[in-house]
This record gives sequence, structure tokens and C-alpha cells, in this order.
Amino acid sequence: MFTIRLTDVSDDSPTRVLPVGPGLDPEMSALVAATEDADTAGRITVFPRPLRQPSRVLLAGVGTGDEAAWRAAGAAIVREAGDDEILEALLPADLAPSALRGLAEGLWLGGYRYRDAVKAPRSGEVRLVLDDPSAYAESLAAATVTAEATWLARDLTNTPSSVKNPEWFAGQIVAEAARRPGLTVTVRAGDELERFGGLLAVGGGSVSPPRFVEMSWQPPGATTHVVLVGKGITFDTGGISIKPRDSMKLMKKDMGGAAAVVAATLGAADLNLPVRITTLVPLAENAIGGSAFRPGDVITHYDGSTTENTNSDAEGRLVLADALAYAAAELSPDLVIDLATLTGANAVALGKRTAALISPDEELVTALTAAGEAAGERMWRLPLADDYAEHQSSDIADRINAGAGPGVITAALFLRDFYGPVRWAHFDMSAPSWAEAADAELTKGATGWGARTLLYYLAALGEDAPF
Ligand code: BES
Ligand code: MN
Ligand code: ZN
Repeated sequence: MFTIRLTDVSDDSPTRVLPVGPGLDPEMSALVAATEDADTAGRITVFPRPLRQPSRVLLAGVGTGDEAAWRAAGAAIVREAGDDEILEALLPADLAPSALRGLAEGLWLGGYRYRDAVKAPRSGEVRLVLDDPSAYAESLAAATVTAEATWLARDLTNTPSSVKNPEWFAGQIVAEAARRPGLTVTVRAGDELERFGGLLAVGGGSVSPPRFVEMSWQPPGATTHVVLVGKGITFDTGGISIKPRDSMKLMKKDMGGAAAVVAATLGAADLNLPVRITTLVPLAENAIGGSAFRPGDVITHYDGSTTENTNSDAEGRLVLADALAYAAAELSPDLVIDLATLTGANAVALGKRTAALISPDEELVTALTAAGEAAGERMWRLPLADDYAEHQSSDIADRINAGAGPGVITAALFLRDFYGPVRWAHFDMSAPSWAEAADAELTKGATGWGARTLLYYLAALGEDAPF
């Protein structure tokens, strides 16, 4: 990531950035009064100053001045900047630490480029000029971790599936974890997956066999044990129930849930959060071939229960089922949160930017919604409506995987079978995992949705959270 530096000295040479919002000095107010809507969050007004220093002044609207507005401003500033431009932002004396965190997150997130992109990464620097820089060091450190987690989730999701097979993905997790003391990783493959019938079925058609990754962060003294589960389909053709070509185009992103839970776990270790976390990532490619699982096949999951496969394109729930059953049988967690690009119905119900949150636990819903709000990731609760459970029955197995009914809800009802205790929340984040175009802190392509919400949530669980 490019450098963001806190300083109390201003230098006349770099490009000057002046935030425009509440609490402006009178000279700025007069300038802004002549510039229409300059205070709208994310609006940039450029004043070139040829032959003078600084040679450009950018007015950056910060709207209401809340964290989200500063995040939007940060993203807009970095988009206006040249790749190697040095920017200096003069920040108000009474700036809230959360506003600085939003600004830094916005700069880094808006300035993201895929690590293997044709264009080189940005090399510029942003200097944030403050009266008392040391008062903001912790906020900047927190933003470093949340932005780095989002960058990693985006990089993993943007990686083409020709590279990103289950073995490669598992290798990335092992390598990232190895750089952080206290994190351990187990990768299961081959015979070790015997009881993971859903994962074996879904991964059976691919020349790249499945993996099951378990990461563990177990700081001394941690009391709460959170299990995170992420759907890690490295490419989803739909299998024998093949997808139409347009629906298949973007299916390299079908591991966005796995990317987010992995990135959040790494971030939790970076922040040294006092929460025990076990992260489960079933990785498989849903391919087509002679060894692919078929419609009508019956699958036996980790808990011994069975599913009749009525549509091999409803594969995500099959691999998540094993992971949830494994968590219930082996890990005794206090709560479980899963993230999955599970249904096209997410976008139908809630549009392109909003994840569906389904949970029977009111307290968990409240806490996750607050975390999403602070992180700038939108979600909306849908009901775990029992009315549709009847559509899941099978004559030859305990259930089918693709019954009629509202897609997001029936998928969640399927998952509910595998994790008994009610402290469970499910995110269907297929819609917000991808952006068609750049917008505020989102860059075109993978968004990394979920990594920040999870980090904010996990941090709030810990005693002396950094944010
Ligand atoms: N990976 C897809 C869901 C998806 C769709 C993610 C669009 C991102 C964008 C999932 O595996 C899938 O195919 N779901 C089916 C379920 C159906 C067969 C019950 C769907 O949504 O059509
Ligand atoms: Mn599918
Ligand atoms: Zn899928």
C-alpha cells in the first residue's frame, strides 16, 4: 500500500488538499461559497496554480463530516491524484479519530489496484497535517489493517481461476498466516476429506481437487470463540446443471466469502484482538466432467445427514454444510458467522450493493449491523422464514439442495440444518462482492465485501478494541 503519513509540518511544494465541510475557517468559507456544492462528500474541486507553489489546490468535500463522508472524500482525493503525486491535506484541529480512520481507509481503498494489474501500483504519498499527529496514530494503524485486509480480499477475488485453484488458494492462506505469529493453519486434502461429502461431491468434477482449510487464532486469555466460515468456490460453472454463459462470466468471484473471512482473520491477528477465532474455508472448483456429481446423487455430509442434489449449481450450500457441521461437532464455538456468494437472488431482493443478513439471533444482528455501518458495508436483514422449509423435502434423503421459494431464504434454511445452536449469522454477499464500476471507496472489480465488517465486529467483541 502507498504511504500515508501523519505530520505536524507543512511543506509548500506538494499538492495541497483542503477539506470542505463543517467548521471551516472564514477564508475557506468565502472561497467555498463561490464554488457550487464543494462541500458534498466526495466532491473534488481543483484549483490549478501555474508557476506557484503548491501548484494545485484540491477542495475535498466532507459533507456531514462523519466517518463515511471522510471515507468518500479520501477515495475521491486519491482518484484525482496522479500516480506519483505527493499530497498534503491540512486537517481541522478538532478532527475526530474515527474521521481520520475513514479518510485513511478511503485513500487506500479508492487507490487500490489489483496486484497483478497491467498498471503499476500507485507510488505517491499522502501527508496528513495535524496539530497533534500522535493522537491519531492508533486510528491510522487500525485503518492500515482494515485497508490491507480489504486489499488482500480483493486481490484473491480478482485473481483468475486459471491461477486460483483450491491448492493455490490454500497456499496463499498458509503463506499469509506464516507472516503473523500466533496464527496456525491446517490444510486437509485427499483422504482427510473423507467425511466432507459435500465438498468432495462439488469438487469431484475438477482436475484441481478440493481442500479444507482451518485457521486458528487463539490469543491467551480469550473468552469468546468465534467460528468464521467462507464459501470458497474457485470457479462455479454450475456443474452438470451448467450456467448460461452470461451468468458464468464472473464466477471467479465465487470465493469472495472465503477471501473475506481469511482477510479478517489475518487482520484480527495484526490487531492482536483478544478473541479466539477459528476460520473454516472449504475450497473447490465446481467444474463439469466425467467425474462431476450428478443431479439425483445423494451426498452424505460431515454430520452423517444426507442431501439429494437436485441442482449442481446450488453447490455453495453443500460445501458450507460440511464446514458448519464440522464446527458444531468439533469446535464448540460461542457463535458462527458464514459469508457466501450464495445466490443470484441476493441482488434480486436487495440490489447490487447490499448483502442479505439472516440470523435467528437478535443481539448478533444488532452488533453485525452496527459493525457494517461503521465499516461502510451495507446489509439488510431477511427473515429465516420457516414457511419455506417444506420445499426442501426429499423422498430418498434428509433434504434436497435446491427447492422452490425465495432464494436467499431457502438457502439459509438449508444451512440452518447444520449448525444447531442459534448463535449463527449468515451473510449472502453475492451482490456486493463485485462492483461494475468505481464508486466512492469501491474500485471496479472485487470489493472485498465483509472483511471490514468482520474486523469491526471482532474488534468490538474484544475488551480494549482499537476502534
Ligand atoms: N455462485 C452462485 C451464486 C451467484 C450468482 C453469485 C450470481 C454471484 C452472482 C451460486 O452457486 C448459484 O449458482 N446459486 C444458484 C442457486 C439455485 C440453483 C438454487 C442461483 O442463485 O441461481
Ligand atoms: Mn452455483
Ligand atoms: Zn456458487
